[in-house]
Amino acid sequence: MTSNVDYIDKIPNNVDLGRDRILQRALEHWQPAYMDWWYDSGPTESHNYDVYLRTAISVDPEGWAQFDYVKMPQYRWGIFLAPPTQGREVNFGVNKGQAAWQDVPGEYRSMLRRIIVTQGDTEPASVEQQRMLGMCAPSLYDLRNIYQVNVEEGRHLWAMVYLLHRYFGRDGREEAEALLDRRSGDVDNPRILGAFNEPTPDWLAFYMFTFFTDRDGKFQLSSLAESGFDPLARTCRFMLTEEAHHMFVGETGVGRIIERTAQVMAEHHLDTPDQVRALGVIDLQTIQRYLNFHYSVTLDLFGGDVSSNAASYYTTGLKGRYEETKIEDDHVLTDATYKVGTVITGKVVDEDIPALNALNERLRDDYIGEVQAGVDRWNKVIEKHGVPFRLRLPHKGFHRQIGNFAGHHITPEGEVLTEAEWKKRRDGWMPSAADYTFVQAMMQGRVVEPGKFANWIAPPRRGIHTRPIDFEYVRFN
Ligand SMILES: [Fe+2]
Ligand SMILES: [Fe+2]
Repeated sequence: MTSNVDYIDKIPNNVDLGRDRILQRALEHWQPAYMDWWYDSGPTESHNYDVYLRTAISVDPEGWAQFDYVKMPQYRWGIFLAPPTQGREVNFGVNKGQAAWQDVPGEYRSMLRRIIVTQGDTEPASVEQQRMLGMCAPSLYDLRNIYQVNVEEGRHLWAMVYLLHRYFGRDGREEAEALLDRRSGDVDNPRILGAFNEPTPDWLAFYMFTFFTDRDGKFQLSSLAESGFDPLARTCRFMLTEEAHHMFVGETGVGRIIERTAQVMAEHHLDTPDQVRALGVIDLQTIQRYLNFHYSVTLDLFGGDVSSNAASYYTTGLKGRYEETKIEDDHVLTDATYKVGTVITGKVVDEDIPALNALNERLRDDYIGEVQAGVDRWNKVIEKHGVPFRLRLPHKGFHRQIGNFAGHHITPEGEVLTEAEWKKRRDGWMPSAADYTFVQAMMQGRVVEPGKFANWIAPPRRGIHTRPIDFEYVRFN
């Protein structure tokens, strides 16, 4: 059985994996299934490439990662928890003031398992959604970045599976297997959440996804990092360090596409989308439509505006608010209220509801604030080139499938329409089949020469981890 020992040693970890026989056996059983999943649903045709990747090797804030060429199937998907905080307590809800739980409280077991499974399910889902994109990467730099995101989403799956195996016994093991069985977009066995079953058909969609949807990940992980269940809190805290890079890839990716478009528009004095497209860059109107789509499907991920589940997660101490411990209030919220939007007789109005039931909405609002700041930075890029167009976040109720706005037909400006009117104008607001065809046609084939970039995207300002922009980030062998 020495090979098993080797295998356990190969997983970088700070959870003393080598000493826990039961956990070892569970992971040894799960690992081959994970590899099957990676070969089946990970990035296509990538298994033999050498990719310049970062690998988490510790939780030291000064140097937690190592950078080197790695073949992705040999990536060392490690298990790391942020260091424990001495004397940490449950910081909110009815159990506030108790010592943080090191084991799963029996009465919260199924709720907690559900939270972990739902988070875990998103991780492999995004890898599946993105698996074809390596074939049309705009540069080696971008190709490396998508692979970095993919292997780290794989590691995030490991992080959640560790918790399931370590703390939930047999049903945890079953859930861990089911995480490898579901597939994004599968008719019979889809991923749990809507946005993770949408296709990511091109690189504009990928960058929008990492900007908007990975940021939902950040906000979910942040509120779980407040959990009274300490192993979950510590796991999520470390995942957040990696998540920052995913959002960087998204923000700079969209930013570089915008920059290239604005450059071409300014240089050739163009203003209509057709003129812009004719020069092989993406018109800002199409970028706005992608933004509308990704923003609205991501807003749905936060759940219903009025939610008794969210109230239970909070009251029990399992899932806090964003930056819970920095908020100055009683952290119990029994008397507080919060404003949520709703539609009454054809108009969007605000309603005060008990704050405990509005926690999804509150997290969504925190998220919207951060997203708006990113959109403002994109607009600065456009402005710098003297182009008058500005990107805008659509109204919160636009194109929603979950919560108070679901079933209503709301414009990006917040006007409530009939279904027929809305459908007539839909293609002005969301990517049409023709938009996708145009964008995909432009992204045929991949750019493989170091330092070269596809025409539709500007180069980044700098390379990865002190390497130059023309570094050979991926070797195809
Ligand atoms: Fe993730
Ligand atoms: Fe991510």
